[in-house]
Amino acid sequence: MGFCKDFAWGTATAAYQIEGAWNEDGKVPSVWDMFCHDGSHIKDGNTGDVACDHYHRYKEDVALMANFGLNSYRFSIAWSRILTFKSTEDGGFAFSENPKGIAFYDSLIDELRAHNITPYVTLYHWDLPYPICQKGGWLNKSCADWFEVYARTIAKHFGDRVKHFITFNEPSVFVGLGYKEGTHAPGYKFDTRDILFIGHHIQLAHGKAVRAIKSLVPDAKVGITFATQPVLPENESKEAIRAAYEAYFSCKKEDVVWSESFWCDPIVKGVYPESLLSECTEFADSIQKEDMELIKTKIDFIGLNIYLGRLMHPQKRLPGTPHTDVNWDVTPSALYWGTKFFYERYNLPIYITENGMACHDWVSLDGKVHDPNRIDYLHRYLLGLRNAAGEGIDIRGYFQWSLLDNFEWAEGYNPRFGMIYCDYATQKRIPKDSAYWYKTVIESNGENL
Ligand code: FCB
Repeated sequence: MGFCKDFAWGTATAAYQIEGAWNEDGKVPSVWDMFCHDGSHIKDGNTGDVACDHYHRYKEDVALMANFGLNSYRFSIAWSRILTFKSTEDGGFAFSENPKGIAFYDSLIDELRAHNITPYVTLYHWDLPYPICQKGGWLNKSCADWFEVYARTIAKHFGDRVKHFITFNEPSVFVGLGYKEGTHAPGYKFDTRDILFIGHHIQLAHGKAVRAIKSLVPDAKVGITFATQPVLPENESKEAIRAAYEAYFSCKKEDVVWSESFWCDPIVKGVYPESLLSECTEFADSIQKEDMELIKTKIDFIGLNIYLGRLMHPQKRLPGTPHTDVNWDVTPSALYWGTKFFYERYNLPIYITENGMACHDWVSLDGKVHDPNRIDYLHRYLLGLRNAAGEGIDIRGYFQWSLLDNFEWAEGYNPRFGMIYCDYATQKRIPKDSAYWYKTVIESNGENL
């Protein structure tokens, strides 16, 4: 048994990383616009102002997806294109809709459907509207209510054609890097106490959004995507596997933001990990029962972004260990262990919502982009995923990161993660060798691996 019959084969992107058009058609600035324009945070002073200019070239990009046989596409919507934000005296907002921003996603969704590509929409891929940040952003509990208004707007406009929704992309990463380490927007360095409340407000926003979407789109499938580095067992013995599982889902105060169970236990089980609550009593005492009810509103799937696994006992990397252009180790069994462990703990269908690698790609003398390392990386990782599916893990789809080379956050345009090469000077798209290879994998539903 391999991948299921209607397996979703796709690629993934995020609004800020590809769209450009940062101030067009009534879009308000997001925290990423502000962070990049400041000039000091991003490699080579790059910004997403233009990025891949997908806002104007989406038709060409959808046609490329169709050429390569993709049946699904995961993209995010920029909250800052959908609503406008007028401050009110009570510290909140009077929202109104931005018809031009909504029209852009209407056309993108129609274009996808015309090419038989199923849209998977992420509501929040890190680009918080700046007016919300000015009122405290995720530290402000009201942010959950504002997110609900946004989710409702998305469901109302697109729910007739979109049936798969992901509330948040990688809360651990945008909170860890944006609010704790300060290397991503909005660039804050908060302590653990604040991080816990920020996390809780995001959990609430998630719960409210799930309810809002389901009330307006009863046949919607709603989930959330986590970033995760599975702990790889030291060997295949029962004890080693158990030890890896325990380490994987452990949750300690000092690195709570990176803990899988901190983010996922509340959503699926309705509780924060016991070990955390006993360490953080102020936080534990402030959590209301109704909050937990809301947070555990039933979801339909879990999205996992997996690029690499980690060892039980991290050691110095051996010389010559294969790694990618962003220095991430190549660990092909990560998809196998990650899906297996998540399914064991949460028992929900799983999508791999991101996996892929940054390669040192360039255009060769023959005008093509040869990326044998990417083909080998994807091949190995997909074999691990197929093994997990073969063991009965309910895996529904795989989205390669990414459709196009794009703006890789603080790393700017240096890492190239795309299946399609982007020449940023001309915006010319050149499918890499791996795109042709991925097409054959999709055609055989992974049987040719
Ligand atoms: C993930 C992000 C995605 C992209 C990849 C490389 O953490 O979700 O936007 O940057 O990493």
